[in-house]
Formats: sequence, structure tokens, C-alpha cells
Amino acid sequence: MSARIPAVVPAARSAAGVADLRDRCAHNYHPLPVVVASANGCWVTDVSGRRYLDCLAAYSALNFGHGHPVLLAAARSQLDRVTLTSRAFDHDGLYEFCAELGDLAGKQMVLPMNTGAEAVETGIKVARKWGYRVKGVPAGRASIVVAADNFHGRTTTIVSFSTDPTARDDFGPYTPGFRIVPYGDAAAMAAAIDESTVAVLIEPIQGEAGVLVPPEGYLRAVRELCTRRGVLFLVDEIQSGLGRTGELFACDHEGVVPDMYLLGKALGGGIVPVSAVVADADVLGVLRPGEHGSTFGGNPLACAVGRAVVGLLRTGEYQARARELGEQLHARLVGLAPLGVIAVRGRGLWAGIDVDPRLATGRQICERLLDLGVLAKDTHGSTIRLAPPLVISEAELDWAVDALTEALRAR
Ligand SMILES: Cc1ncc(COP(=O)(O)O)c(C=O)c1O
Repeated sequence: MSARIPAVVPAARSAAGVADLRDRCAHNYHPLPVVVASANGCWVTDVSGRRYLDCLAAYSALNFGHGHPVLLAAARSQLDRVTLTSRAFDHDGLYEFCAELGDLAGKQMVLPMNTGAEAVETGIKVARKWGYRVKGVPAGRASIVVAADNFHGRTTTIVSFSTDPTARDDFGPYTPGFRIVPYGDAAAMAAAIDESTVAVLIEPIQGEAGVLVPPEGYLRAVRELCTRRGVLFLVDEIQSGLGRTGELFACDHEGVVPDMYLLGKALGGGIVPVSAVVADADVLGVLRPGEHGSTFGGNPLACAVGRAVVGLLRTGEYQARARELGEQLHARLVGLAPLGVIAVRGRGLWAGIDVDPRLATGRQICERLLDLGVLAKDTHGSTIRLAPPLVISEAELDWAVDALTEALRAR
């Protein structure tokens, strides 16, 4: 009897080959027409050999650029040792990763997971458990206050408190226990909190909503509110954290320390999905064996890359680059007003740019940018997001803004 040899499917090598296979993948995204074959630093190369400057950086997952040598070296050396144990056994990088990330964030404990959505789910579970076991909320009554226009991921519980119909519609029945208030409004937040409230969950800057920076003092006001009312302050720094805004965390701009950081994206160095819940022992310590887990969470490869990421952030170099180059970026972007830019928001190397909708959609501008060799992504009609890797040079950044200028002129 001959052995069954699995068919080897050759990789699509051309844009046409990819187009032929497109219907084999669920249509849950609407990608720009570029097919990436390789990447290095801030640059990606498509299957025809054309190069593009990456100004999206996988929504901040590539803060350190593609193929950062320190991160690749950490991954490679771990690949040769051990990549997966499951949490049934300890491995020699898990507690080091937790301690190093905890020290960087100024917290005592870390719970490693994989994707951002899992970190958010984990944060919600921990907050509820804390509410019942520590705060004394009656069983099944815990509520969490969230902000309108949030984006925290795609699980059924998370989309239950989304206000975006595309993300939410037809995925019910929805998870109860969430109250939605306008973003940036501390008084509305205060009014939504009662004895059953265990946590407030917000993004310190709303990325998907268009890089919305809340009014100055909002994060401080929410921090004070949570302290006063005995409610945990959970901050989703999955996109805003780890250097993007010019500080380690976006909360640092207001000198605010939440009770829990939810981290992801750049924590995996653009190599593996790594996320984490970071908090003190009085919060994360509520979990007991068997109450929560993940087969891949905290795996040896993830911890090796995560430790190398922590090492890069500890130098402060990436935060400083984001700060300095961010000033250059924002100064140039506001100068685009005569070309139809009606608003520019953001911090550090992160910008949301609203284009007059009568001139072009965000998608059209991103397609023009693609033709000019720049990768960027639109959101909500006429907004363009820029979030280049933090390793971008001044000259490259200028080149990207030059391309945007040209894209806005081309009508
Ligand atoms: C603020 C925020 N939270 C959570 C998530 C979800 O992360 P993931 O796609 O890794 O599940 C994202 C992803 O874009 C995000 O921007």
C-alpha cells in the first residue's frame, strides 16, 4: 500500500496568482491591491519587486520595523531550543518575561496571552472576578463602563459593546454587562458608575475611531473617578502603547497609571502574536489555577521575542524617536490644510488625517499613495491613518508626507 503523500500547494508567486486564489479566503477584509513578498525595516517589496514605504506598520504591531535584527536573533535562537510547552509545564523564559515586562510597566504581575482581543477578554474576566471576590458585587451583576466608538477586538463579548454596526450587527445574542458612554466625557462616565460597576475600560487614544485624542485631563479625571468610586481602571494600550506615541504608554502623557494595562501588537515584535494583561497582585492575583488559560499564551518563542521587545523599550530610544519624528510629522501634516486636510489628530508617530469628503474618500487617497509607493490605511470614510515603524528616518518620513501631498493634489 502506498503512503498518502499530502499535496504540496505552491505559494502564489504573482499578483495574478493571488487573485486566482482570493476566493479561497473568507472576505472579512478589503485589502489594498498590493501583494507583499518580503520586507525589511520600513520597506516592503511586492511580488513584482516594487518597493513601498510601510506607513501602517500592521497597526503598530511593527513598531520596531520588519525583521529587526535583535528580535530576529532572539526568535531564531529560541526556535532551535524549544517553542512550545503549554502552561502544563514551566519553561525557562516565562517568569523572566513576566518579571521584565512587569518591571517595565511598573506592575507586579503579568498574564501572557496571544492576541489583543484575548488580552481584552482576559482583562474583562479578571475585572469581573475582582468585582465579585474583592469588591463584593452580588453574583452575576458586574458592569463595566466603556466608551462609544471603541475598538477592542472582534470576539463576541467585545463586539457586544461595540458601537460600530459593521463590527456588531448579526453577531448577537450579545454579552450583557456593559454600559456605553461618550468618549472624552468624564461626567458621563461618572454618571454611569454605580455599586455594580467593577471597571472602566477605554483606549487612551482611540485608534480605529480615527486616532482620537481625548481632551486634556480626561485620563486624569477617569483615574480619579475610578479611585474614588472603587472601580478598576483598565486601559487598552494594545495599539497606543509600547512607544508609538512618544512615551512607553499613551497614559504617560497625562502622568496616569491605570490599574491594568492591556498590551499586544508590538509586544510580539512583528514576529509572533504576544499580548499581556499587566497589573498588581491585588488585581491579577484573583485568578486561581484552572480559572483562565491559553495553550499558546506565554509560549517559549513568544516569551523570547517579548523579552527582546522589552529590552528595546528599556533603552527609551524608540519612545524618543517617536516623540521627535512625531513633531516633524504633525508639523508637516497641519501644513496640508490648503490641500483639503480638514483635521489632523494624534501623538508621536501616529496620525489620523481627515480629508474633505467632497474631494476624495480615505480609500481613494490610500490607493493614490499606493501608486506613489506608500502603504497607509483609511478608516471611517475620509480619514487616513499613518503609523510608520518607529525606526523610520527623517528623510523617509518627509518622503511619505511628500507622497501624501501629491496624492491630495491628484484629483
Ligand atoms: C486598541 C485595540 N485593542 C484591541 C485590538 C485587537 O487586537 P487583535 O487584532 O490582536 O485581537 C486592536 C486591534 O487593532 C486594537 O487596536
